[in-house]
Amino acid sequence: MQNAKGELPAASPEIAKVTLGWFSGTMDGLPVQESVKKLSELEHIFLDEAARSHMDQDQEVYRVCWWSPVSPGVEGGLFWGVTTLRPGKVGDEYFMTHGHSHANRSRAEYYTPVSGRGLLIRMDERRLTWAEEMAPGTLHYLNGENAHRVVNTGNEPLIFWACWCSDAGYDYGAIRERGFGVRVMERDGQPVVIPYE
Ligand code: F6R
Ligand code: ZN
Repeated sequence: MQNAKGELPAASPEIAKVTLGWFSGTMDGLPVQESVKKLSELEHIFLDEAARSHMDQDQEVYRVCWWSPVSPGVEGGLFWGVTTLRPGKVGDEYFMTHGHSHANRSRAEYYTPVSGRGLLIRMDERRLTWAEEMAPGTLHYLNGENAHRVVNTGNEPLIFWACWCSDAGYDYGAIRERGFGVRVMERDGQPVVIPYE
């Protein structure tokens, strides 16, 4: 909105500091945070722990860049981020995110991929688990009650944007201990969703 002199007001500190590379999955700007998940931090997440432990522990599996315009835990805000999940396998199991539920189970999230392909694994509180195809253009609404994990079943990075509530939080414990009700393995060159307990 212009003032009487036709001038635009100065942008608030939150605006115009972040710019996106939509298809490359990059975020630039002072408040952007980044975390890199290496194989060393995914102990006992993959079925073949021996295979994981013999791989290069410094190998990056995925990275997340995000913008928190408000502090984590503040009610009513939104976070915006992008995950780049590399292609690869541990044994026959495709690279995937750790997976989590939201600490606040009433807080939802959107995922939308822009590059690559894979599967979104979702699990409800009774451990009923299912997979949704992820490819550029698919939009996934995650209600806060579902644990979620992304698996890269392709040969290129799987890049997806996400928007989630600032007071959603993270609950990694249950997934670390029991995982999901399925695993995604390569069989005869194809991804197969296999029930797992
Ligand atoms: C936020 C969210 C994503 C994931 C990211 C990495 O609620 O779902 O930003 O945090 O894809 O996955 P995790 O957190 O499972 O390591
Ligand atoms: Zn989430």
